[in-house]
Amino acid sequence: MRIHSQYIMHFPFVFLLPLITLCYSPQVVASSSSSSSVLAQGSSLFVEKKDHLVSSNGLFTAGFHEIGQNAYCFAIWFSEPTLDGDHTLVWMANRDRPVNGKRSRLSLWKNGNLVLTDAGQSIWTTNTHSNSSLQLQLLDSGNLVLTRLEKESYLWQSFSFPTDTILPNQPFTKDTVLISSTSLTNFSSGFYKFYFDNDHVLRLLYTNNEFPSIYWPMPWLESWESGRSIYNNSRIALLDSNGYFHSSDDLTFTTTDYGDALQRRLTLDVDGNIRVYSLNQRSWSLSWQAISIPCTIRGICGPNSLCTYNSESGRKCACMHGYKSKNHSDLSFGCEPIHDLSGHYENYDFFKLPRVEFYGFDSQSIERSDFTECKKACLNNSNCKAFQLSFDEHTRSSRCYVKTLLFNGHHKDTHIDTFLKLPKSDVLAYNSSIANESNLYCVTSIMQPKHERKSVNGSVKFMLWFSIIFGVIEFASFVFFYYITKEPSGTTTQTYLAIATGFKRFTYAEIVKASHKFQEEIGRGGGGTVYKGKLPDNRVVAIKRLHEAIQGEAEFLAKMSTIGKINHRNLIETYGYCAEGKHRILVYEYMENGSLANNIGRNQLDWQNIFEIASGVAKGLAYLHEECLEWVLHCDVKPQNILLDASYNPKVADFGLSKLFQQGKTENFVFSRIRGTRGYMAPEWVFNLPVTSKVDVYSYGMVVLEMITGRSPTYDQPSDDNERLEQKRLVSWIKEKVHEASESLTETHITEIVNPMVTGEYEENQMNNLLKVALQCVDDDKDARPTMSEVVKMLIHLEMED
Ligand SMILES: *[C@@H]1O[C@H](CO)[C@@H](O)[C@H](O)[C@H]1NC(C)=O
Ligand SMILES: *[C@@H]1O[C@H](CO)[C@@H](O)[C@H](O)[C@H]1NC(C)=O
Ligand SMILES: *[C@@H]1O[C@H](CO)[C@@H](O)[C@H](O)[C@H]1NC(C)=O
Ligand SMILES: *[C@@H]1O[C@H](CO)[C@@H](O)[C@H](O)[C@H]1NC(C)=O
Ligand SMILES: *[C@@H]1O[C@H](CO)[C@@H](O)[C@H](O)[C@H]1NC(C)=O
Ligand SMILES: *[C@@H]1O[C@H](CO)[C@@H](O)[C@H](O)[C@H]1NC(C)=O
Ligand SMILES: *[C@@H]1O[C@H](CO)[C@@H](O)[C@H](O)[C@H]1NC(C)=O
Repeated sequence: MRIHSQYIMHFPFVFLLPLITLCYSPQVVASSSSSSSVLAQGSSLFVEKKDHLVSSNGLFTAGFHEIGQNAYCFAIWFSEPTLDGDHTLVWMANRDRPVNGKRSRLSLWKNGNLVLTDAGQSIWTTNTHSNSSLQLQLLDSGNLVLTRLEKESYLWQSFSFPTDTILPNQPFTKDTVLISSTSLTNFSSGFYKFYFDNDHVLRLLYTNNEFPSIYWPMPWLESWESGRSIYNNSRIALLDSNGYFHSSDDLTFTTTDYGDALQRRLTLDVDGNIRVYSLNQRSWSLSWQAISIPCTIRGICGPNSLCTYNSESGRKCACMHGYKSKNHSDLSFGCEPIHDLSGHYENYDFFKLPRVEFYGFDSQSIERSDFTECKKACLNNSNCKAFQLSFDEHTRSSRCYVKTLLFNGHHKDTHIDTFLKLPKSDVLAYNSSIANESNLYCVTSIMQPKHERKSVNGSVKFMLWFSIIFGVIEFASFVFFYYITKEPSGTTTQTYLAIATGFKRFTYAEIVKASHKFQEEIGRGGGGTVYKGKLPDNRVVAIKRLHEAIQGEAEFLAKMSTIGKINHRNLIETYGYCAEGKHRILVYEYMENGSLANNIGRNQLDWQNIFEIASGVAKGLAYLHEECLEWVLHCDVKPQNILLDASYNPKVADFGLSKLFQQGKTENFVFSRIRGTRGYMAPEWVFNLPVTSKVDVYSYGMVVLEMITGRSPTYDQPSDDNERLEQKRLVSWIKEKVHEASESLTETHITEIVNPMVTGEYEENQMNNLLKVALQCVDDDKDARPTMSEVVKMLIHLEMED
């Protein structure tokens, strides 16, 4: 494989081997007993005898592991097999050079070198030398060490050379790298890398020879924007035994099962995501993952392919119009154009893929451009495959990107469209078939009322056929994908596809105990009552009891697994749930300062708090809305659902549940439940228009206006009409003031708007901008509202100006 040359660094010994073998001919006599905890100098472990070392606590085993037909790796694994009978490997000596099932052995030479040989040929070595006496030992931590007997120090340890996994208390340093396996059945080095970058930040990199690219943290964000620091050069990270991870670049997290005494491992999976797993009754369950939007992982789908994701069927790769897959049994090979695209420009036209981005590989980028200009630029370049138009916040105009390669295709909930270059005849055919295919890929994930199709025209039949055909294709690709990843292996224990329950499932008895029989009520709303409680590990928690068992258990569990995967500092962290009989209960983190509603009411916040809350909430919502994950619309953003921790950092609560209510049977009932709270509701709800993520943007705008003015947009006893009126009145009152202010350039108007009870100083400029952003958010026209991630950008921009 071409990739190997890049990793020589990490397996440097292989190349020194012939030399060593020549100078030193080992006289290995004794063979160890088939199971012991140490290997003495001058002895070997033989593949035929299934010799192995076991740690003294019995947890780990080191030995030859069969990874294919007559192919063995020297590896360390958890001694106890998982429920399906597989062993979970945590380390491998020779992942890229498996050895034979005969005449292979691992020997500790008298000179201190540990060598793996295949029929006498060295395959792998530690390249160590020592004239003091040594032994090879497997420690209770899973660390395989060469111990100097006199000094009790380690000459070599497997912890310094991880493969794709680190164990608790195994330091991850500037010299260590995790490299994913090629596939679930092939453990050789794959394309994903986890490492400390030159700027001391932990990153994930997709690397094949052609197009390496970093995808985590988001490459377009500055390190500080993703909460990382570049100022600590110690480059060390550690997952401790409680499930707390800390890195010198300030990346920290706790696993969802923090504190429990469980076996854990942190693994760079074959799909390029970093996950922490915990061993629970002999099966691995997910307790943390780095990336919850799988389509942002690079390289997944190969060239000319579009990655789509929804919670039901997971991640898929699909070829775009005018492209066909290169390899029908493996969609990660990507797609190729059906037609020649390099002919005379008059033969081509463009097909719009709304809200689709192909990241990177721009052969040309034009500022302040438009469709016509961008189209020309693409037609003028015979290598152009597509162009992309995206809205640039700084110039407030479109930017044009000419693409000669289409990689990393995925959906994005921002003003970004891709226009595919295709033969004219094709474009015509596609145009008439799918007039409006923005829902094409997200169709199962967008929450849209499906009733009332008003006009039935001639193209409906065509669309129907198209949908059916598309559905079949999608289903087929899903089956392929499923088949590929599910191929029985007999040797693997990767379970990442089966992340059904990412976090803890509590019994009802445990909940009753934790909540002291539901004694301390701390809130109501959102379909449930919230109680304060305490878990056995002393974590104080909020326990939300949903009023009615609205859904079947399976559906509830599916939602829980979605919520369990959501992980963001501005979103409430859910620790677990209970689904027993009729009980449907959520357990999440307790927030010391209660809800934003309480704090606004009592004037507890200063201006600094308010600016930070505005930007924190925006970040949390942007995270929920990103990409195709539009099913995580909040639909009920309001001050009661924004909670504040001890230092007034905001966390959005109650997300991911909206669909729980939406999927009930009687739609009207359902819609009256999910359409949020009076005062914060977007006009779409009232006028029965399609609901998109922009409903949350609207509610967010109202919340910000309420924080600024201290005036609530709700009446106590509203009817539909006067409530709309009040909401409108607040907005138009503010608009008027802002307008006057910008004309007369005095600050008096601003002071008329802002809540006089709030303490602290604010920059007038900053306040002005926050107001402007909020007013944009509450625009009646949903298309005029910015997306949540645009709001984040505007607010960050604003912070930087200070
Ligand atoms: C170990 O061997 C090296 C040569 O390989 C020699 O220079 C050194 O003195 C030896 N040390 C001891 C303690 O014997
Ligand atoms: C495993 O993958 C590597 C790299 O892709 C390849 O060279 C090797 O042949 C594969 N091994 C098996 C058994 O498929
Ligand atoms: C750098 O990070 C390490 C490990 O997290 C920590 O012990 C050390 O104090 C940090 N140094 C600075 C200057 O912050
Ligand atoms: C398609 O992919 C499968 C599975 O990776 C592989 O065995 C096969 O050789 C590939 N076919 C072609 C034509 O590349
Ligand atoms: C078309 O491309 C050529 C070079 O390939 C360049 O000289 C010319 O200016 C381009 N025309 C337009 C309209 O961009
Ligand atoms: C296809 O539709 C787009 C707009 O949806 C239009 O700009 C383009 O001209 C159409 N192409 C053809 C060949 O009809
Ligand atoms: C697509 O749908 C939008 C509303 O969602 C509508 O305004 C527009 O006219 C539709 N376009 C076509 C070509 O039907």
